[in-house]
Amino acid sequence: LTIPVIMAGGTGTRLWPQSREQRPKQFLALAPDGQGTMLQATMQRLNGLGLAEPLLICNEAHRFLAAEQLRAIGHEGARILLEPAGRNTAPAIALAALQATRGGSDAVLLVLAADHVIPNATEFQRCIKLALPIAQAGKLVTCGVVPTHAETGYGYIEKGAPIGDSGGFAVNRFVEKPDVTTAQMYLSSGHFLWNSGMFVFKASRYLQELGRFAPEILRACQAAMDGAQEDLTFVRVGKAEFEACPSDSVDYAVMEKTADAVVVPLDAGWSDVGSWSALWDVSPKDAAGNVLRGDVLMHDSTGTYVHAGSRLVATVGVQDLVVVETKDAVMVAHRSQAQEVKKIVDRLKVSG
Ligand code: GDD
Ligand code: MG
Repeated sequence: LTIPVIMAGGTGTRLWPQSREQRPKQFLALAPDGQGTMLQATMQRLNGLGLAEPLLICNEAHRFLAAEQLRAIGHEGARILLEPAGRNTAPAIALAALQATRGGSDAVLLVLAADHVIPNATEFQRCIKLALPIAQAGKLVTCGVVPTHAETGYGYIEKGAPIGDSGGFAVNRFVEKPDVTTAQMYLSSGHFLWNSGMFVFKASRYLQELGRFAPEILRACQAAMDGAQEDLTFVRVGKAEFEACPSDSVDYAVMEKTADAVVVPLDAGWSDVGSWSALWDVSPKDAAGNVLRGDVLMHDSTGTYVHAGSRLVATVGVQDLVVVETKDAVMVAHRSQAQEVKKIVDRLKVSG
């Protein structure tokens, strides 16, 4: 039994003003693949793999969005674990693993983020099919993306020796978000892959390793699940217990520390679309390198991403911009500084 575990608790602030607190990026149809919202595309990408109904983990505030979007694509059987507050990915996955092992059963978890773009779904499925038997044998598998540039927004994995003919490689080490000089070195060495944040392991193995390396997280999550309230769709974990859980990512808490990590390379055009420029990167462009979404007119413009949400947007004589129009906010940025949109969001938060 393989259960997809979909993490959908992110905030997507760098994709403001389209991504909002009430509707962060994973619940938006941002991706160019026409597969609905990013969450829906994540599920559609699994079609044909013959997996069980997914477990989704998200913030309580987004429960109806999540349930509705899953129902719309035929996954009304999904269970949705609701976090009263975000405690990062190690606890989120722990909740899913505890849910999956209730009543003494076990399962392989295919842990995915709800906000990735993967243009080559066939190659993605090939990677997953390689990972499943390795996970079944007790390893903690991570999908490592063949890097295309010296990205500093990703973690890196140093590939070790191949493990038989399984398609997997030993992991020499994880390095979370290096500086640009280090990233360039990693890229040219040819030994490094990007940490995709997609993992495959048995629920029981994850809990074992978590218990070893981050016992406080395991204890808090166990208590939160003991205090959980369930209905047909939602599992509301104990609020006080979960809020008392330390915050940490699965990368730091488990993957960097376990001796049983294995990486399977993935070359599928993957992106976590962390920013508008990343979205421009993975989108099909016209001859001038423009991406036009919605009611957009352009003249003598190049390398520009325009999203018109509610009105006609026109550009004349501009280069390398991002223009995002929504009902109540318009954002114009240089594509090279699209990461800095976060600064505006921070200021909005301060001023309430
Ligand atoms: N349910 C839940 N709860 N989901 C969460 C939480 C949480 O508290 N925190 C994060 N997530 C989800 C996000 O929605 C996202 O899909 C995924 O988990 C990863 O979290 P990010 O916060 O986006 O992590 P990151 O981008 O900084 O770094 C991680 O992902 C990179 C690839 O996208 C690391 O694993 C990096 O090493 C990796 O390269
Ligand atoms: Mg991310």
